[in-house]
Amino acid sequence: MTSADIARLPRHIAIVMDGNGRWAKLRHRPRTFGHNAGRKAVRAVVESCLREGVKVLTLFAFSSENWRRPEDEVSALMELFLRALDKEVDELHGNGVRIRFVGDLNAFDAGLRQRMLAAMARTAGNDALHLNVAVNYGGRWDIVQAARKAAEAVARGELRAEEIDEQLLGHWMCLSDLPPLDLFIRTGGECRVSNFLLWQLAYAELHFTDTLWPDFDHACLKSAIEDYARRERRYGRTGEQVAQKA
Ligand code: FPP
Repeated sequence: MTSADIARLPRHIAIVMDGNGRWAKLRHRPRTFGHNAGRKAVRAVVESCLREGVKVLTLFAFSSENWRRPEDEVSALMELFLRALDKEVDELHGNGVRIRFVGDLNAFDAGLRQRMLAAMARTAGNDALHLNVAVNYGGRWDIVQAARKAAEAVARGELRAEEIDEQLLGHWMCLSDLPPLDLFIRTGGECRVSNFLLWQLAYAELHFTDTLWPDFDHACLKSAIEDYARRERRYGRTGEQVAQKA
Protein backbone atom coordinates (compact mmCIF):
# COMPACT_ATOMS: atom_id res chain seq x y z
CA MET A 1 0.00 0.00 0.00
CA THR A 2 1.44 3.43 -0.92
CA SER A 3 1.32 6.40 1.50
CA ALA A 4 -1.36 7.98 -0.77
CA ASP A 5 -3.51 4.84 -0.33
CA ILE A 6 -3.04 4.97 3.45
CA ALA A 7 -4.02 8.65 3.53
CA ARG A 8 -7.26 7.78 1.75
CA LEU A 9 -8.12 4.89 4.05
CA PRO A 10 -10.66 5.89 6.71
CA ARG A 11 -9.22 5.25 10.15
CA HIS A 12 -12.62 5.22 11.83
CA ILE A 13 -15.79 3.83 10.25
CA ALA A 14 -19.23 3.82 11.90
CA ILE A 15 -22.15 1.77 10.58
CA VAL A 16 -25.91 1.87 11.09
CA MET A 17 -26.73 -1.75 10.31
CA ASP A 18 -30.24 -1.41 8.91
CA GLY A 19 -32.38 -3.84 6.94
CA ASN A 20 -32.34 -7.10 8.92
CA GLY A 21 -36.14 -7.17 9.20
CA ARG A 22 -36.73 -6.55 5.49
CA TRP A 23 -34.08 -9.14 4.56
CA ALA A 24 -35.97 -11.73 6.62
CA LYS A 25 -39.36 -10.65 5.24
CA LEU A 26 -38.13 -11.16 1.67
CA ARG A 27 -37.44 -14.76 2.71
CA HIS A 28 -40.79 -15.15 4.54
CA ARG A 29 -38.95 -15.65 7.81
CA PRO A 30 -39.29 -13.94 11.22
CA ARG A 31 -37.35 -10.74 11.95
CA THR A 32 -35.06 -12.62 14.35
CA PHE A 33 -33.85 -14.69 11.39
CA GLY A 34 -32.69 -11.41 9.86
CA HIS A 35 -30.92 -10.34 13.06
CA ASN A 36 -29.12 -13.65 13.16
CA ALA A 37 -27.96 -13.15 9.57
CA GLY A 38 -26.97 -9.63 10.67
CA ARG A 39 -24.67 -11.13 13.28
CA LYS A 40 -22.84 -13.05 10.55
CA ALA A 41 -22.45 -9.84 8.57
CA VAL A 42 -20.90 -8.22 11.67
CA ARG A 43 -18.33 -11.00 11.79
CA ALA A 44 -17.54 -10.54 8.08
CA VAL A 45 -17.17 -6.75 8.33
CA VAL A 46 -14.84 -7.09 11.34
CA GLU A 47 -12.66 -9.45 9.29
CA SER A 48 -12.74 -7.00 6.36
CA CYS A 49 -11.63 -4.11 8.59
CA LEU A 50 -8.74 -6.18 9.93
CA ARG A 51 -7.81 -7.09 6.35
CA GLU A 52 -8.04 -3.51 5.05
CA GLY A 53 -6.22 -1.95 8.02
CA VAL A 54 -9.14 0.14 9.34
CA LYS A 55 -8.28 0.96 12.97
CA VAL A 56 -11.71 1.70 14.48
CA LEU A 57 -15.15 0.26 13.70
CA THR A 58 -18.20 1.54 15.56
CA LEU A 59 -21.47 -0.36 15.09
CA PHE A 60 -24.96 0.76 16.07
CA ALA A 61 -26.36 -2.48 17.50
CA PHE A 62 -29.18 -1.19 19.69
CA SER A 63 -30.38 2.38 19.97
CA SER A 64 -32.00 3.93 23.03
CA GLU A 65 -35.19 4.00 20.90
CA ASN A 66 -35.04 0.26 20.05
CA TRP A 67 -36.62 -0.61 23.45
CA ARG A 68 -39.89 0.47 21.77
CA ARG A 69 -39.83 -2.63 19.53
CA PRO A 70 -42.13 -5.58 20.33
CA GLU A 71 -41.06 -7.27 23.57
CA ASP A 72 -40.25 -10.60 21.91
CA GLU A 73 -37.96 -8.90 19.37
CA VAL A 74 -36.12 -7.03 22.15
CA SER A 75 -35.58 -10.24 24.13
CA ALA A 76 -34.47 -12.09 20.99
CA LEU A 77 -31.91 -9.34 20.34
CA MET A 78 -30.64 -9.55 23.94
CA GLU A 79 -30.34 -13.34 23.56
CA LEU A 80 -28.44 -12.84 20.31
CA PHE A 81 -26.01 -10.36 21.94
CA LEU A 82 -25.39 -12.87 24.75
CA ARG A 83 -24.73 -15.70 22.30
CA ALA A 84 -22.51 -13.46 20.17
CA LEU A 85 -20.49 -12.51 23.26
CA ASP A 86 -20.06 -16.16 24.24
CA LYS A 87 -19.20 -17.33 20.74
CA GLU A 88 -17.12 -14.51 19.28
CA VAL A 89 -15.03 -12.99 22.06
CA ASP A 90 -12.31 -15.70 22.00
CA GLU A 91 -11.76 -15.28 18.29
CA LEU A 92 -11.90 -11.47 18.42
CA HIS A 93 -9.38 -11.52 21.24
CA GLY A 94 -7.17 -13.92 19.25
CA ASN A 95 -7.26 -11.47 16.34
CA GLY A 96 -6.17 -8.56 18.55
CA VAL A 97 -9.56 -6.84 18.57
CA ARG A 98 -10.39 -4.53 21.46
CA ILE A 99 -14.13 -4.57 22.23
CA ARG A 100 -15.88 -1.65 23.83
CA PHE A 101 -19.60 -1.23 24.51
CA VAL A 102 -20.72 2.37 24.36
CA GLY A 103 -24.03 3.62 25.68
CA ASP A 104 -25.96 3.52 28.93
CA LEU A 105 -25.26 -0.06 30.04
CA ASN A 106 -27.30 0.32 33.24
CA ALA A 107 -30.50 -0.56 31.39
CA PHE A 108 -29.33 -4.12 30.63
CA ASP A 109 -29.85 -7.06 32.95
CA ALA A 110 -26.99 -7.79 35.31
CA GLY A 111 -25.89 -10.99 33.50
CA LEU A 112 -25.57 -9.35 30.11
CA ARG A 113 -23.90 -6.24 31.57
CA GLN A 114 -21.41 -8.43 33.43
CA ARG A 115 -20.50 -10.25 30.21
CA MET A 116 -20.08 -6.96 28.37
CA LEU A 117 -17.76 -5.64 31.09
CA ALA A 118 -15.80 -8.93 31.11
CA ALA A 119 -15.32 -8.80 27.30
CA MET A 120 -14.10 -5.20 27.56
CA ALA A 121 -11.67 -6.03 30.36
CA ARG A 122 -10.35 -9.12 28.61
CA THR A 123 -9.61 -7.36 25.33
CA ALA A 124 -8.47 -4.03 26.81
CA GLY A 125 -4.83 -4.57 25.83
CA ASN A 126 -5.55 -5.23 22.13
CA ASP A 127 -4.85 -2.76 19.35
CA ALA A 128 -5.30 -4.38 15.91
CA LEU A 129 -8.88 -3.08 15.64
CA HIS A 130 -11.01 -1.12 18.10
CA LEU A 131 -14.53 -2.52 17.81
CA ASN A 132 -17.10 -0.28 19.50
CA VAL A 133 -20.59 -1.67 19.83
CA ALA A 134 -23.16 1.01 20.58
CA VAL A 135 -25.92 -0.41 22.75
CA ASN A 136 -28.68 1.62 24.40
CA TYR A 137 -26.83 4.50 22.79
CA GLY A 138 -28.20 7.78 21.48
CA GLY A 139 -26.24 10.75 20.15
CA ARG A 140 -28.27 13.16 22.26
CA TRP A 141 -27.68 11.00 25.35
CA ASP A 142 -23.95 11.20 24.63
CA ILE A 143 -24.04 15.02 24.46
CA VAL A 144 -26.14 15.17 27.66
CA GLN A 145 -23.80 12.91 29.64
CA ALA A 146 -20.80 15.00 28.52
CA ALA A 147 -22.61 18.25 29.48
CA ARG A 148 -23.46 16.75 32.87
CA LYS A 149 -19.80 15.88 33.52
CA ALA A 150 -18.82 19.44 32.64
CA ALA A 151 -21.53 20.82 34.97
CA GLU A 152 -20.31 18.54 37.78
CA ALA A 153 -16.73 19.77 37.30
CA VAL A 154 -18.01 23.37 37.50
CA ALA A 155 -20.00 22.52 40.67
CA ARG A 156 -16.86 21.03 42.25
CA GLY A 157 -15.04 24.27 41.47
CA GLU A 158 -12.55 22.53 39.14
CA LEU A 159 -13.67 24.46 36.08
CA ARG A 160 -15.22 27.81 35.24
CA ALA A 161 -18.28 27.76 32.94
CA GLU A 162 -16.57 30.11 30.47
CA GLU A 163 -13.73 27.58 30.10
CA ILE A 164 -16.10 25.06 28.49
CA ASP A 165 -15.37 24.99 24.77
CA GLU A 166 -15.72 22.42 21.97
CA GLN A 167 -12.45 20.73 22.80
CA LEU A 168 -13.24 20.38 26.47
CA LEU A 169 -16.79 19.11 25.96
CA GLY A 170 -15.57 16.82 23.17
CA HIS A 171 -13.18 15.24 25.63
CA TRP A 172 -16.15 13.88 27.66
CA MET A 173 -17.97 12.53 24.60
CA CYS A 174 -17.88 8.75 23.94
CA LEU A 175 -14.90 7.57 21.82
CA SER A 176 -12.97 10.84 22.32
CA ASP A 177 -9.76 8.86 22.91
CA LEU A 178 -9.98 7.27 19.44
CA PRO A 179 -9.30 8.73 15.97
CA PRO A 180 -12.15 10.99 14.81
CA LEU A 181 -14.94 9.46 12.77
CA ASP A 182 -14.05 9.54 9.05
CA LEU A 183 -16.77 7.53 7.35
CA PHE A 184 -20.40 6.92 8.35
CA ILE A 185 -22.19 4.12 6.50
CA ARG A 186 -25.89 3.33 6.64
CA THR A 187 -27.28 0.25 4.95
CA GLY A 188 -30.93 -0.48 4.16
CA GLY A 189 -31.78 2.51 1.97
CA GLU A 190 -32.76 5.15 4.55
CA CYS A 191 -30.82 8.43 4.38
CA ARG A 192 -30.80 9.58 7.99
CA VAL A 193 -28.49 9.38 10.99
CA SER A 194 -31.13 8.29 13.54
CA ASN A 195 -29.50 9.84 16.62
CA PHE A 196 -26.18 8.03 16.13
CA LEU A 197 -22.89 9.79 17.05
CA LEU A 198 -24.31 13.29 16.50
CA TRP A 199 -21.28 15.13 17.90
CA GLN A 200 -18.71 12.82 16.26
CA LEU A 201 -20.39 13.11 12.84
CA ALA A 202 -19.43 16.79 12.44
CA TYR A 203 -16.85 16.23 9.69
CA ALA A 204 -17.51 12.61 8.72
CA GLU A 205 -18.24 11.63 5.13
CA LEU A 206 -21.64 9.97 4.72
CA HIS A 207 -22.25 6.88 2.61
CA PHE A 208 -25.76 5.48 2.16
CA THR A 209 -26.44 2.19 0.41
CA ASP A 210 -29.62 0.27 -0.42
CA THR A 211 -27.91 -3.03 0.45
CA LEU A 212 -29.68 -4.68 3.39
CA TRP A 213 -27.32 -5.27 6.32
CA PRO A 214 -27.15 -9.12 6.08
CA ASP A 215 -25.97 -8.72 2.46
CA PHE A 216 -23.24 -6.20 3.33
CA ASP A 217 -19.99 -8.01 2.53
CA HIS A 218 -16.31 -7.31 1.87
CA ALA A 219 -17.05 -5.91 -1.61
CA CYS A 220 -19.61 -3.48 -0.13
CA LEU A 221 -17.11 -2.25 2.45
CA LYS A 222 -14.43 -1.84 -0.24
CA SER A 223 -16.86 0.13 -2.37
CA ALA A 224 -17.72 2.45 0.59
CA ILE A 225 -13.99 2.96 1.25
CA GLU A 226 -13.42 3.77 -2.44
CA ASP A 227 -16.30 6.24 -2.36
CA TYR A 228 -14.68 7.87 0.71
CA ALA A 229 -11.29 8.02 -1.04
CA ARG A 230 -12.84 10.08 -3.86
CA ARG A 231 -14.24 12.71 -1.47
CA GLU A 232 -12.46 16.00 -0.88
CA ARG A 233 -12.45 16.75 2.84
CA ARG A 234 -12.35 20.52 3.20
CA TYR A 235 -13.17 21.18 6.90
CA GLY A 236 -14.53 24.60 5.94
CA ARG A 237 -11.63 25.56 3.64
CA THR A 238 -11.90 26.12 -0.14
CA GLY A 239 -11.01 23.43 -2.67
CA GLU A 240 -7.98 25.53 -3.75
CA GLN A 241 -6.68 25.77 -0.19
CA VAL A 242 -6.99 22.00 0.20
CA ALA A 243 -5.13 21.43 -3.10
CA GLN A 244 -2.28 23.76 -1.99
CA LYS A 245 -1.93 21.92 1.32
CA ALA A 246 -1.71 18.49 -0.38
C1 FPP B 1 -31.76 -2.85 12.23
O1 FPP B 1 -32.51 -3.60 11.29
C2 FPP B 1 -31.00 -3.72 13.10
C3 FPP B 1 -31.04 -3.76 14.47
C4 FPP B 1 -31.92 -2.91 15.28
C5 FPP B 1 -30.23 -4.70 15.23
C6 FPP B 1 -28.80 -4.80 14.85
C7 FPP B 1 -28.30 -6.08 15.32
C8 FPP B 1 -27.50 -6.90 14.60
C9 FPP B 1 -26.94 -6.59 13.28
C10 FPP B 1 -27.23 -8.21 15.19
C11 FPP B 1 -25.94 -8.50 15.82
C12 FPP B 1 -25.09 -7.44 16.33
C13 FPP B 1 -24.01 -7.67 17.11
C14 FPP B 1 -23.13 -6.55 17.48
C15 FPP B 1 -23.67 -9.03 17.59
P1 FPP B 1 -34.09 -3.52 11.31
O2 FPP B 1 -34.59 -4.58 12.23
O3 FPP B 1 -34.51 -2.13 11.69
O4 FPP B 1 -34.45 -3.84 9.83
P2 FPP B 1 -35.67 -3.27 8.99
O5 FPP B 1 -35.45 -1.78 8.84
O6 FPP B 1 -35.57 -3.98 7.69
O7 FPP B 1 -36.93 -3.60 9.75
